[in-house]
Amino acid sequence: MQTNLIKKIDLLKKKRGAIILVHNYQPPEIQDIADYVGDSLELAKISHRIDCEIIVFCGVHFMAETAKIFNPDKMILIPDEHAGCPMADMITAEQLLEEKESHPGAVVVTYINSTADVKALSDICCTSANGVKVANSVKNEEIIFAPDKYLGSYVANRVKNKKFYLWSGYCPTHMVFSKEGILKLKDEYPDAEILVHPECRLEVQKIADAICSTSQMITYAGKSEAEKFIICTEVGMLYRLKKENPTMKFIAGSLNAVCPSMKLISLEKVLWTLEDLKYEINVEESVRQAALKAIERMVAT
Ligand code: 13P
Ligand code: SF4
Repeated sequence: MQTNLIKKIDLLKKKRGAIILVHNYQPPEIQDIADYVGDSLELAKISHRIDCEIIVFCGVHFMAETAKIFNPDKMILIPDEHAGCPMADMITAEQLLEEKESHPGAVVVTYINSTADVKALSDICCTSANGVKVANSVKNEEIIFAPDKYLGSYVANRVKNKKFYLWSGYCPTHMVFSKEGILKLKDEYPDAEILVHPECRLEVQKIADAICSTSQMITYAGKSEAEKFIICTEVGMLYRLKKENPTMKFIAGSLNAVCPSMKLISLEKVLWTLEDLKYEINVEESVRQAALKAIERMVAT
């Protein structure tokens, strides 16, 4: 059944001139049919340099939207229109405008996990991999950081002489990790290193051996002397880590760290997307251009 579906996807993908981009958190069977697997920014950059007419984006809405911001002339499709990111939806453009009015001297640094409307009102974007570098590149002394308060705190704690106004968004999936839970695992696997995504709470960040974005986890494991790692991010990441490092052991910091939106994508839906050319992502041109400026500023830092 699965083999049939994969064959059909492959045939139709070629016929349509489509490419399948897949985020690190996607289910294994979706990662296995990918042309490219990566983090949100890597995928957006790949989308930009790749020659194709259609991109099927297996991830959440803001990621597909970021690909559209880079590629106005390509058709960007997401296999499930309900695959949103709750954190990205925790700040609206209207709310960000009000926050800017309250702090007129502040520069707005916005996490890539945000809607195109919010990016368009931002001065510069950042990812979980480059937040500190981006904040240090800002000349102003005041920074509005949105929407993730935990990534914001992580950055604020490492940047000197700047005042941060943190928006109070968070990722529900990363809230399941607790200090007690991770320390219990560390008792079971004393020689394991603890890798923590900066979307986790500060009590979890504090006991980390390394705080990493999803792609940095892959690089870190590849270079480390350790052979076991406790992974504090969405469980889909474990499949990618194991595939790339088959001799190492990766232990989930919590098996409950499942992003429901990421798991909405299935092989059937990928096939239907290619058959029906649904659901297409569009971004209004003035919003796209303003959002692109904030992303390009980040890329230039
Ligand atoms: P990346 O930017 O590492 O792809 O992570 C995105 C995300 O949604 C983290 O929860
Ligand atoms: Fe959004 Fe969290 Fe899912 Fe990442 S894991 S897409 S931040 S809800």
